[in-house]
Order: sequence, then C-alpha cells, then structure tokens
Amino acid sequence: MELSLEDSAKRAAGYAAVDRFVRDDTCIGLGTGTTAYWAVQRVGEVVARGRKVRAVATSVATEQQCGDLGIPLIALGDEPLDVAIDGADEAAPDRSLIKGGGGALFREKAVAIAARTFVAIVTERKLVPQLGAFPLPVEVVPFSARYVAREIEAFGAAVRVRSHGAAAFVSDNGNVILDCAFHAIPEPDGLDARLRGLHGVVATGLFVGIASHVLVGNADGSITGF
Ligand code: 5RP
Repeated sequence: MELSLEDSAKRAAGYAAVDRFVRDDTCIGLGTGTTAYWAVQRVGEVVARGRKVRAVATSVATEQQCGDLGIPLIALGDEPLDVAIDGADEAAPDRSLIKGGGGALFREKAVAIAARTFVAIVTERKLVPQLGAFPLPVEVVPFSARYVAREIEAFGAAVRVRSHGAAAFVSDNGNVILDCAFHAIPEPDGLDARLRGLHGVVATGLFVGIASHVLVGNADGSITGF
C-alpha cells in the first residue's frame, strides 16, 4: 500500500525511535496514535527477530496491536521502564508537548513519567513555537465534567466535551475528555498545575519536562531531532 507523505514521515519517526532507543532485554513503554503505531510495528519486527523486550501499552488499542504482533506485555510498575516512545499533537522547542488527541493521555503520561527516557516522535506538522493552537485535552471524572468545564472556561479557554458520534467519548479509564482551546499557552507548567488543582481533573495533556528527545520524521526517511 502506498503511504501518504505524512504517513511516511510518521513511519520514519517511529522506526528511528525503536532503532535508536530499544535495546535487547529491556522494558519499554509504547504509545498510542498513528505515529506510535509505526513504533509498535517496528518493535514487533525486532521481537520476531529475537530481541527480548517487555512492553507496557498506553491504551487498549496499543495492547491489541502488541498482542497481534506477539509483543509480551507487562503492567506498569512490574519492572523499571527503560524507555517510552509516543507521538504528540504539538511539540515546542523546549520539548514541552501537548498530547491526548487520541484520548489516551492519562496512561501515556503515567508511562512517560515512569520511563528513564521518554522519546516523542512527530512530523514537522507538530512543531510549534509555543503550545496551545491544538485544543488541550483534559481528562475528567464524569461526575465533575460540567463543574470542571466551567472552571476552565473561567481560565479563558473555550471548552468542548469530546464526543464520539452522538455520545460522549469515554477514555480507557471510563472518564470524559474536555478539549480546551486556549490558543496560546505561554506558561505550560503553571497552567498544568492550575488545571490539576481542580477537583475532578485526572490528567492534562501538557507534558512539560518529561521528553528527553523529540525525533522529527521526514517523508524521505530522514530524521532530525532536538
Ligand atoms: C493519543 C496521543 C497521540 O500520541 C497524539 O494524539 C498524536 O497522535 P498521532 O500520532 O495520531 O498524530 O496523545 O492520546
């Protein structure tokens, strides 16, 4: 199947992350989304060739992909995580990220924080001078969703409850996602702390000070990074 230029770039980033960071006999975290998909595929290839890895999956979808590829799964906390690899919706020059476009932000952040090394894999489209053009996903306990939405609106964002067809989107943890359009987030760390201070917020999609590498894939297979 012919890949689009964007998908070729995603594949390049996913493959490069695995080739550079996944060693034999290690424990890895595997992300969620259309870029992380390619990293998981590459891990499946190296496992089939005999490399021993154990993986923590960040979503039910990634668990299923790992199962299809014969990648052994463990639970978060069973073993120290050497490296985690995941996509992002936005990446700023200081390696702060917005994640959660696929709704897996809580588990993605749990795995990224636990890993010794966290590698974000993106294409050029995801690079921004400042976070915030992408609506920030915030995972919220359903009981508190309307209350938390009002509080976030008071912070200056337009808030939308993520939907899935006619119903609300439900995360793998049974929660709802609020997509919060701030348009510009000049102080991601401060905003993250304010949002996490709202009772009912489970996790935000702001990943600040977590990624140690951002790999940018290009359609011709080349990689840049920062
Ligand atoms: C899922 C995520 C994804 O990593 C993010 O949305 C990027 O996805 P894609 O690689 O499909 O553009 O955070 O919750």
